[in-house]
Amino acid sequence: MSARKAIIPAAGFGTRFLPATKAMPKEMIPVIDKPLIQYTAEEAAASGISEIAVITSRGKAALEDHFDRSPELEEFLQAKGKTGLLEEVRKLSTLANFTFIRQPEMLGLGHAILMGEKFAAGEPVAVLTPDDIYDCPVPCTRQLIDVFLEKKATVIVLGRVDKEGTKKYGIVKVKRQLSDRLFEIADTAEKPGPERAFSDLGILGRYVFTPEIFGAIKRTPVDSRGEIQITDAIKVLLADQPVYGYLFEGKRYDCGNKLGFLEGTIALALKHPEFSSELRDLINQMLS
Ligand code: UTP
Repeated sequence: MSARKAIIPAAGFGTRFLPATKAMPKEMIPVIDKPLIQYTAEEAAASGISEIAVITSRGKAALEDHFDRSPELEEFLQAKGKTGLLEEVRKLSTLANFTFIRQPEMLGLGHAILMGEKFAAGEPVAVLTPDDIYDCPVPCTRQLIDVFLEKKATVIVLGRVDKEGTKKYGIVKVKRQLSDRLFEIADTAEKPGPERAFSDLGILGRYVFTPEIFGAIKRTPVDSRGEIQITDAIKVLLADQPVYGYLFEGKRYDCGNKLGFLEGTIALALKHPEFSSELRDLINQMLS
């Protein structure tokens, strides 16, 4: 069975963007003219996902509004003849069928995903964290779904990380390499640091899970901060079934931190047809 459902966990506090995120969800911070979560939903839709559950929390109503119809705004844009913008606004509610599920307490990414168990209803499910923008020739989640269809097993996205990255991401131990990009995973460790890292292959926020992930999350012990980490749940899953890692093709911008956010914004703006050459001139002027 292919993955037609996706979970987007978006319940976190977004502390790295305070004070911007005090009253506004981090996922609504715009990169050029679209909020972060729109890039995520568009990637999911372009990957063949038709049902999306967004995991939210208090103060995140803007996420629901963003993907809902807005008849007054649409009427206004229609009356003003702003057909391009009207299309953009209408497109949002048709990207997929959206469901919004509350995570009552911030108990970690694994716990946030567990909130989507009923939504998944025994089907495979993709998970996309909205912190990352992927700019890939084939949408990143599609790359994973294609491996999932071949292997009929959980697939997680991998990227090469430096020493600092071993402190920020889950790291995998490879059982065997099956091709340039495909690995069978032996073990995982959450943010092990350079001394304890199994490899330089980090888990970067895109997953396609078999339905057994939910049972694995429930059997996963909480970490020292009282949270359930999805990296630890993958380790639990590995005891029962194979898990594959795929070194994705393309570029990823980690927009969950300020520098990565700036990098992503500039990189995408430099490719934006409306103002890429003007922006290039402006940057050159600033640097000269
Ligand atoms: P992060 O670790 O980036 O946390 O979570 P955060 O709260 O968004 O941001 P910082 O670190 O405080 O700045 C990765 C993803 O998992 C979601 C977040 O919303 C984010 O999309 N998440 C995390 C949840 O939905 N629930 C949680 O309990 C934890």
